[in-house]
Amino acid sequence: MSVSLMIDGKPHSANEGECLASVLMRQQPPVFRQHPVDGSPRTAFCMMGVCFECQVEIDGIRGQQACLVVVRDGMTVRRGRM
Ligand code: FES
Repeated sequence: MSVSLMIDGKPHSANEGECLASVLMRQQPPVFRQHPVDGSPRTAFCMMGVCFECQVEIDGIRGQQACLVVVRDGMTVRRGRM
């Protein structure tokens, strides 16, 4: 079964129970955020909640770790400088 979510304003589908970070890793380029100081692209590294490189905004709440979040129908995700 699949769920629908929005990533940066565009519709996407994912498998029910899938980790949000794995969905974002399929995007091209697989950038999760830009570094707040120099704007360099960052992507998930540890996939277990340690490095904080996977931070995104989920349903309006910034700084959430995508590797610790399971996708759900109607979820809105924004990537950006954080
Ligand atoms: S990938 Fe390291 S905290 Fe999410």
